[in-house]
Parts: sequence; C-alpha cells; structure tokens
Amino acid sequence: MKYLTIALAKGRVAKKTMELLAQIGITCDEVNDKDTRKLIFKNEELGFKFFLAKADDVPTYVEYGAADIGIVGKDTLLENGRKLYEVIDLNMAKCRMCVAGPESARELLDSGKVIRVASKYPNIAREYFHNTRHQTCEIIKLHGSVELAPIVGLSDVIVDIVETGSTLRENGLEVIEEIVPCTARMVVNQVSMKMEQKRIREMINKLKEILA
Ligand code: PRP
Repeated sequence: MKYLTIALAKGRVAKKTMELLAQIGITCDEVNDKDTRKLIFKNEELGFKFFLAKADDVPTYVEYGAADIGIVGKDTLLENGRKLYEVIDLNMAKCRMCVAGPESARELLDSGKVIRVASKYPNIAREYFHNTRHQTCEIIKLHGSVELAPIVGLSDVIVDIVETGSTLRENGLEVIEEIVPCTARMVVNQVSMKMEQKRIREMINKLKEILA
C-alpha cells in the first residue's frame, strides 16, 4: 500500500488535527512528542506518513505533491494562493483576518490618503486595500510581532489575524475592519485526489461525519 502523506502546520493546528484524526481511527502518537527531533512519523499499519512544517510551507508541499494532504489555516491558503483542492473546513483554530491599528487610524483610513500597512500577509493586505477598499497603500512585509509596527511608527495600520484580541488590547490597538474569518482547512494535492481517490474520499467522508 502506498503511504498517504499528511503535512501538518506546526503547533496548535497539528495537535488538534491529531485529536480529530484519532476520532476516525488514524493515529500516530509520536507526532505530538515534543522531545523528538524526528521530522517524519509513520503509522505503517494504516499506511500514513505525517510531517510537521511551518504553516507557510504546508501549501507548497501539497501543491508539489510532496504531501498528498495538508492541514493549514485559511489565512495561509489565501496568502499563498497555491493550486490545491480545499476539501474540508475543520472548524478549528478560528480567528479573523483584520485591519487593526490605533483608534486614530479610523479617520486616516477614510481620508483617502496613502496609508502604510504592515503585515505578515502582504498579498491579503494588497488584495484587500486595492480591490475591496480601492485605496492606495504601501505594504510593508514583516515576519512577526506585527502589532509593534503602528506603535513605533513604522506603519499606520496592520493586517493580521486576531484570535482573542488580547494582543491588540494590551498594546492599545483595536480592530478597525474585518477582512475575512479564518479556520483550519484540509487541502489535497490535485493529482493525489485522482490517484488515491478512494482512500482520500473515505477520509473526507468520515471527517465530515464527525464534524457535522
Ligand atoms: C498571532 C497574530 C497576533 C496574535 C493574535 O501571532 O499575529 O499577533 O497571534 O492573537 P490574539 O488575538 O489571541 O492576541 P503569533 O502568536 O502567531 O506570533 P507572531 O506575532 O510572532 O507571528
């Protein structure tokens, strides 16, 4: 039997996914072992391989077929725009992609002036400001702790995910506009979907049943 390879976004998504997969009989305890330096984990009996990757890299592994299946946030999928089949909304790791900033940025946003937007999601930010808001902006790509940018004067606003809202609150920032709600999704390589249709369909159906 050919292994089905599943790429998981490291961290909370991976842990929750393994809990979900366990409910449909797909298990692999090693995946959640924090002390191991191993990168690939197998369940030989069931024919599954798992690996953990940076969320941003998961769509790449799946598009190229290095993984048949990927589990990753909708935010990452939108930002990367890869050719994949998005098959299930796993309804976990819920958050909102938002424009956020200090209260004073509201007026600036409505003024039509060129605004500076810092984000780990430059494509989503550009898409939103150009095509939805029809507003000229300068996008500044950052890699983390994006909330710093408006505080230290690097940008007027940020485009980032908001989960509990506490990072914004604790830094005197607020949600100004919501762009899109995001949850973890299961994605499938387009060729794998044809070649391994039976096993993948079965997995999708079982997951849909427990998520219903
Ligand atoms: C994410 C996001 C926000 C925060 C939102 O950052 O970029 O900073 O979580 O969560 P909250 O609304 O519950 O406060 P992450 O923890 O991934 O770290 P990073 O900023 O270094 O990327």
